[in-house]
Amino acid sequence: MRDLFPILIFSLLVMFGYAGFVTFGIPLIVPAPPPVEEKLSGDITMEQYVAIGDKIFHGKGTCTLCHNTTGHRAPILEMASSDGEPVGVRAAERIKDPRYQGEAMNGEEYLHESLVDPSAFVVAGYGKTGTNDTVSPMPSVNKGAIGLSDVEMGAVIAYLQSAAGVDITVALPTGEAPADDGEEEEVTVAANAQEAFDKFGCSACHMHPLIDEGGDIGPDLGKVGATAGSRVIGLTAEQFIAQSIIKPNAVIAEGFDADTMPDDFAESMTVSELNMLVDAVLHPDKKPDQEPDSTEGE
Ligand code: HEC
Ligand code: HEC
Repeated sequence: MRDLFPILIFSLLVMFGYAGFVTFGIPLIVPAPPPVEEKLSGDITMEQYVAIGDKIFHGKGTCTLCHNTTGHRAPILEMASSDGEPVGVRAAERIKDPRYQGEAMNGEEYLHESLVDPSAFVVAGYGKTGTNDTVSPMPSVNKGAIGLSDVEMGAVIAYLQSAAGVDITVALPTGEAPADDGEEEEVTVAANAQEAFDKFGCSACHMHPLIDEGGDIGPDLGKVGATAGSRVIGLTAEQFIAQSIIKPNAVIAEGFDADTMPDDFAESMTVSELNMLVDAVLHPDKKPDQEPDSTEGE
């Protein structure tokens, strides 16, 4: 008798969980617990520095949104591929390229320059359409939504050199801990659509009134809402947009490539974040949501 209540609650949870899954196709309703914060200074070994770079590369750096083996919208970096030797090796060759106009004197400097000033050298075939490989679609990763610090970029370079099997030439960070660089942001649930665009790296590929410096690898999200209701028979505008975010390959926007947008947002996005994004795409001119949690309490 006493056991009945917990069982009832459990069944309800299962039912609602299932209903949620069917409606949104989102298995994850509760965000994953925040990963343990990496300390970026003090006595760390090169091995730890490389591990931090690995984490940034696959996480907050958003590098794998573009540098991955599925979309091939950006060169493969970590291993040998049709793009040549791993980038840690080919970096030293890039600066000897007749087209090279940058200021790097060695491989490490080339990698650093690639991060802060991607257009200094644009790998042939990967430039923005119509620019004849003079402008890179890659954002400067020390600015805007990605905003990596020097120490974090150093870690990423150490990781790329380590992956390539070349000598790691970056220096270990010393001295003061770097100022708070907002690393917690990526693991908390976004409070509004603007934060969600940044958190999931949508800004790297899309433009929208809420995005400061957007990219143009994907369609302008300020313009999708107007026609979203008539794109697929049987799907409302909201359903079409939600599907475009969770299953990007279900419908490919005309003039753009399939397999470019990550198809695993459902693994990390909460339902509230998805709803905020859908709403922002549907009503691009709406003012950013004012969330009620602002000044009261801690
Ligand atoms: C929005 C897509 C995008 C994102 C995000 C992105 N890149 Fe790139 N990246 C590119 C493209 C496209 C190129 C090739 C054009 C060029 O040379 O700039 C490139 C080039 C590079 C190169 C030079 C490769 C070579 O062969 O010379 C390096 C190094 C690099 N990226 C590292 C990174 C790292 C590290 C991150 C994350 C901190 C990152 N990128 C994030 C698209 C992206
Ligand atoms: C690496 C680049 C990239 C990232 C990151 C990305 N997208 Fe996309 N997105 C694309 C491309 C390319 C298309 C067009 C091809 C397609 O329809 O899949 C697209 C299509 C879409 C569409 C459908 C547009 C239409 O007219 O059919 C929506 C909506 C969208 N993205 C929203 C988002 C949101 C929201 C995020 C962040 C959660 C995001 N995208 C992240 C590249 C990206």
